[in-house]
Parts: sequence; structure tokens; C-alpha cells
Amino acid sequence: MIAPSILSADFARLSEEMAAVGGPGRGADWLHVDVMDAHFVPNLTLGLPVVESLLRSTDTPLDCHLMIDAPDRWAPGYAEAGAHNVTVHAEAAEDPVALAKNLRAAGAKAGLSVKPDTPLESYTDVLKHYDTLLVMSVEPGFGGQKFIERVLEKVRAARRMVDTGHLNLLVEIDGGINSDTIEQAAEAGVDCFVAGSAVYGAEDPVRAVEGLRARALDTSAHGSA
Ligand code: DX5
Ligand code: ZN
Repeated sequence: MIAPSILSADFARLSEEMAAVGGPGRGADWLHVDVMDAHFVPNLTLGLPVVESLLRSTDTPLDCHLMIDAPDRWAPGYAEAGAHNVTVHAEAAEDPVALAKNLRAAGAKAGLSVKPDTPLESYTDVLKHYDTLLVMSVEPGFGGQKFIERVLEKVRAARRMVDTGHLNLLVEIDGGINSDTIEQAAEAGVDCFVAGSAVYGAEDPVRAVEGLRARALDTSAHGSA
């Protein structure tokens, strides 16, 4: 799956930018929406009122990545609004198990994200309550950063836990994904690839999405052969 991140889109034309990659016959599986609060991360983007408007203007499932403090308090609102997947940061959540239950009760998939230096081991039991694991391959906060290769260890570990039935979730990666780095990520076992600048920085975003998908599929096919 490919989830273009609208962080790299033109914020004055978000619905057109979403339609450019996510409408009928277009390539995006999910649209990734980065919510930043200038506390958990140094950057500030958008919040629930904007997400509610975005939900009204697209049929493509929204993948909301909340880079915010106090997600226990704020994340369920995104699920109630109709976001398909709501991801919170493990480093910020106070009670991640209760939070996952609240997100699911509100009708969304529950996602847990880990920053590049956050180990996965501490969250193995918690992850049993989640539908997606978002492995950050850059420090959260900004688009256009360089891919951090060492996080692929965590992807491989998560993949193993899923393949052996210890976890039942999608493995998602976010940060620095482009036509070069997507191959390593696919090989390590990623299911869903977030890409911001590689999609919205391209001359033809739809072709960029399809190009990324082809590279990922090609690599996975070789990997399992
Ligand atoms: C960064 C965000 C990412 C960002 C990725 O904190 O979580 O979703 O949009 O951008 P690229 O693909 O340009 O690294
Ligand atoms: Zn993100």
C-alpha cells in the first residue's frame, strides 16, 4: 500500500491535492495526514477541524499520524470524526492499551508509532491491541529528510512477529521513502509506505505513486521467491 503524505502538498489547495492522487482510478490506498502540535515535535501543521473538512472532501481513507502530546485525550476525536486509521506515538501515550481500545470503539483502526530511537521490545505486548505499527524512518517533524536505514531492524522484527502469528497488524514506514529507499523497506517487510516529497515533489504525483508501488511489489516478489 502507498499512502502519500499531504505534508508535502500545497496547504492552500488540500482537497485538489488529495484528489490528484486519491480519486477514482488514482493510485493512493490511503492519504497520510500529519498532525503536529509544536510540543511533541517542533513543527505545527493542522488539527481536528481541518481533518474534519478533509474527510468531507475525499473518499480515500485518511491515515492520521498524530505527532502530539496527550494523545490519550485528543486522538479519539479523530476516530469519531471518521479517520480510517489513527496513529499515536508510543513516546507520548500514557495508557496505549486503553487508547487503542478507545480508537477501535470509535470505529477506527488503531496505530502505534515509534521514533527512530525508540526500541520495539518495550511495546510487544501493547502492540497486540493495535492494527498498524508505524516505524519512523526520520525524526518526526518535517518532510524531505534522509531515510534512516537502521530502523529496518525494527521492521524485520515486526515482520517476524506478524509472520509467526504473535502480532496481527500492518507494518507501515514513514520518512525518506523514495524510489531508491523503498526497495530496502519492502525487502524488510513493510506493508504500507508513506511518501511525502517523493509524491508531491514529483512532476506527476500519480505516476510517482505508481512508480513506488511497482518498485515495492517487484522487491517483495523477489524477496519471497
Ligand atoms: C514527518 C512526517 C512524514 C512526512 C514524510 O514527521 O511524519 O509523514 O510527511 O515526508 P517525506 O516522505 O518527504 O520524508
Ligand atoms: Zn507522518
